[in-house]
Amino acid sequence: MLKTLSIAALSVAALLPTLSMASDAGTLQQGEKLYKSACVACHSTGAANAPKLGNKAAWEPIIAQGMDQMMNVATHGKGAMPARGGTKADDATLRAAVEYMVSRVK
Ligand code: HEC
Repeated sequence: MLKTLSIAALSVAALLPTLSMASDAGTLQQGEKLYKSACVACHSTGAANAPKLGNKAAWEPIIAQGMDQMMNVATHGKGAMPARGGTKADDATLRAAVEYMVSRVK
């Protein structure tokens, strides 16, 4: 049973990056979907000092650290930020959600 599950999870994980690279718009849409289902709880209100969606002053120093560091925090968590935002999203979807949040900073 466990083995079947992990094989299924692996094949989904192998498929998703291919799908999400189909187009940038597709990636952002996927990210927006995850954002709206999970990240929104903290990042729309700034709860627990989460950098608020679209807040330039909050996001500029974070973006300046680069995608690798943002993905590091998004994957492993930091302070009140839970690992993967408390979801089981795979790396590609998680990255898409981070990219979506970055894309909303104007
Ligand atoms: C329970 C609240 C909560 C949820 C849910 C949440 N975050 Fe966060 N997030 C935070 C907080 C708080 C911080 C600030 C952490 C710090 O700097 O101490 C943060 C910071 C971040 C950062 C900045 C990382 C950095 O380099 O400093 C990113 C990127 C991020 N979150 C992405 C996400 C994504 C993507 C999701 C959804 C999959 C998500 N978060 C869901 C609370 C949350």
